[in-house]
Amino acid sequence: MASNTLELESLLARSRALVEVELNNLLPSAAAAPEKIHNAIRWSVFAGGKRFRPALLLATGQAFSASTGELIRTACAFEMVHTYSLIHDDLPSMDDDDLRRGRPTCHVRFDEATAILAGDALQTLAFRTIAEDKQLAAETRVALISELARAAATPEGMVAGQALDMEAETRQVTGAQLEEIHRFKTGALIVAAARCGAIIGKATEDELAAVTSYGSHLGLLFQITDDFLDVTATAEDLGKTPGKDAQSNKATYPGLYGMEETRAAAINAHRTACAALDRIDRPTDVLRRIADYILNRTG
Ligand code: IPE
Ligand code: IPE
Ligand code: MG
Ligand code: MG
Ligand code: MG
Repeated sequence: MASNTLELESLLARSRALVEVELNNLLPSAAAAPEKIHNAIRWSVFAGGKRFRPALLLATGQAFSASTGELIRTACAFEMVHTYSLIHDDLPSMDDDDLRRGRPTCHVRFDEATAILAGDALQTLAFRTIAEDKQLAAETRVALISELARAAATPEGMVAGQALDMEAETRQVTGAQLEEIHRFKTGALIVAAARCGAIIGKATEDELAAVTSYGSHLGLLFQITDDFLDVTATAEDLGKTPGKDAQSNKATYPGLYGMEETRAAAINAHRTACAALDRIDRPTDVLRRIADYILNRTG
């Protein structure tokens, strides 16, 4: 393995550890009543996700000299919203999946009502986490809450993307529509994570525009590789059941373009993401390596 890859992996492992300690502090204890919902939240959060969105937020913030103390809670808020999106994405009425992060999905392990509530609670706890972050000025908190809310909702965020993704199961989509689904359902939270890191680091308008371009191509890349891995990877590597996209008639890059063109689209998104970093006069090496990692990930 190249030394750059090893270095990035140890950096990701360090940020994962930090985020998990903080999440453990922020989430209600499993012993607190009502226990079932708290157990369900913890079941899904502490199941070994990659913690990619918090890692990206931390790395972007650090490129702009923000401290870990200023970044960590917002990083955790992104992981809360992301985990909520996974719990709801797996529900029988959506993708109907029974394996997530290597264990039974929340509605399978608990029940559907509990899974819906666990998602609801994680979403709201995320906004509370930022609102109550004493490390940040009040106006910064408001800016971060606005970013996260826009990215998570509709018309151009995760909920919009999920709605379009479900609709696309029953009709043919164009390449432009597919890219939009991917940018909304997955890209929006990823670009917002990068932007929030930069906002906490007090990036200038020009810097923020470059971070936005980087994050938006990285977000598209992330969902293209997710689609690719659904075809090529094992359940062990993914922690979820592969082959579900074709089975559910999902709109995906491999479905629309085939594997070779999907790889070419991934390489293109990676190149465009990295080109945006050339516009930032800050140490962006780690952000480049994050893009390499997403292009070449196996799980
Ligand atoms: C899976 O996200 C859902 C998508 C948005 C593609 P991740 O691949 O980041 O899942 P975890 O957090 O590592 O489980
Ligand atoms: C999910 O996309 C995007 C979310 C908002 C959760 P997928 O449905 O492809 O994610 P996986 O493959 O189940 O993780
Ligand atoms: Mg889905
Ligand atoms: Mg799914
Ligand atoms: Mg998928």
